[in-house]
Amino acid sequence: MRSLHSSSFAALSVLACLVGRVNAELKNVFAHYLVGGMSGVDEAVKDVTDAKALGLDAFALNVQQPTAPFTTDALGFLFDAANQNGFKLFFSFDMTTINAPSDFLPLFNQYRGNAAYYQHDGRPFVSTFDGGAKSFGVSSPGQGWQQQFKDVLSDQGVNPFFVPDFDDYGGATYDSAFFTNYPVVDGVFSWESAWPQITEGLVNVSDSKDQAGLQAARAANKVYMMPISSVQFKHIDGGQNWYRIGELNLPERMGQVLALQPDFVEIVSWNDAGESHYIGNNWPKAISGSPAIQAYSNDYDHTAWQAVLAPFITAYKAGKTTAADITPFGEFAGAFWYRPLLKNAACAGDSLGKPQGAENARDQINIAVLLPSNTTGVTMRVTSGGNVVANLSTTAGLNTAGVAISTGAQKVELIDASGNILGAGSSTQDVVADTSSTCNFNYQVVHIA
Ligand SMILES: *[C@@H]1O[C@H](CO)[C@@H](O)[C@H](O)[C@H]1NC(C)=O
Ligand SMILES: *[C@@H]1O[C@H](CO)[C@@H](O)[C@H](O)[C@H]1NC(C)=O
Ligand SMILES: *[C@@H]1O[C@H](CO)[C@@H](O)[C@H](O)[C@H]1NC(C)=O
Repeated sequence: MRSLHSSSFAALSVLACLVGRVNAELKNVFAHYLVGGMSGVDEAVKDVTDAKALGLDAFALNVQQPTAPFTTDALGFLFDAANQNGFKLFFSFDMTTINAPSDFLPLFNQYRGNAAYYQHDGRPFVSTFDGGAKSFGVSSPGQGWQQQFKDVLSDQGVNPFFVPDFDDYGGATYDSAFFTNYPVVDGVFSWESAWPQITEGLVNVSDSKDQAGLQAARAANKVYMMPISSVQFKHIDGGQNWYRIGELNLPERMGQVLALQPDFVEIVSWNDAGESHYIGNNWPKAISGSPAIQAYSNDYDHTAWQAVLAPFITAYKAGKTTAADITPFGEFAGAFWYRPLLKNAACAGDSLGKPQGAENARDQINIAVLLPSNTTGVTMRVTSGGNVVANLSTTAGLNTAGVAISTGAQKVELIDASGNILGAGSSTQDVVADTSSTCNFNYQVVHIA
């Protein structure tokens, strides 16, 4: 890119202007939101106002049952709340449970003109979870989505901006062949790249799939929406019992997002209690039918992750490119998180047994602390099981650390150069080596305040 020919430079300048115009609407950040049972509009108002305070632009509403009363009731609450509070929403149709676009089009048509429906370039934004392998009885999935989704809407004068998660389409990653076979998409979202696969073993999360997908999307003049998540722990039944790290996954993804500068970011998730990666509120009615999920998510509050996510979102929107650029709004921001159950627990009393991938877990206190650019001499003092186990020095921006954990209580303190405690957080649940109840690999997240 260094030595440009003058003719292509002229063409690029035109392109840069166009991109500049479009860019005004890019760099938005969403959170995956499971549409489940809600008791009333006040729950929706709380979600929307919390999300707005965090810096989110919209919820990606995962809809699994478009006509179920719990869905239509919750959507009523959510759109009311979004309209009252200046927030946006768009649909992410869950194609693991929805058979065909004809099943969700009535719902989309009901809401796409709503003032709170999120638009890109004046077009209603639509995403999915899966669906990349569904062809709806025609020759290919690309044709199926074109004919039964885009063409049907086009006949009504509607041109959705379509950014599905099609990473179930059959390729290792989104590549140029994908964009040739799926010209129907305006961009892509990846879900699976948010965490390592269990089969990869004890590794840190990689952004190589995001890099490839972003490059292929840009080459096809499409957008790339990048996922960021904390952990994926599911413990529902024999077929759904796994642990995908975890540990420092969330801050590592923050650095990767800033380095790659994707067009959009989706946080996975706001409220998926079943997969344990929620950062927002879990409403009781949504999980009232699942005692299994209640057993591993009730009393496991994750909202302290928002303290480090808010400055990250600001940094991303400002075009910052390194983790050192994620600075707090005030003197500091921070959280630490830990599993209250050590990985070698036998879990003899849990009929589901240990989650697949438990061997990839690390028994550690995970810390993310943000400090301003003028910081000097702040130490993170880590106490585990009654002993100070580390005094860690810090720098400006994002500081992450994983410190070996012991059973008992946990504490992280920030100490300034003169020895004053700037902020601290203490565990509310002790770490244990084994349990006679649920083999819970979910995290407790503690605010350093
Ligand atoms: C994962 O990252 C941590 C630092 O965040 C590093 O200490 C560790 O060596 C990495 N592990 C692997 C397997 O790369
Ligand atoms: C450092 O910056 C923070 C936030 O930008 C500010 O609150 C604080 O007063 C500054 N401290 C010093 C010593 O300048
Ligand atoms: C941490 O710092 C304190 C106070 O300076 C010191 O007493 C302690 O030995 C240090 N602990 C570790 C594990 O470095």
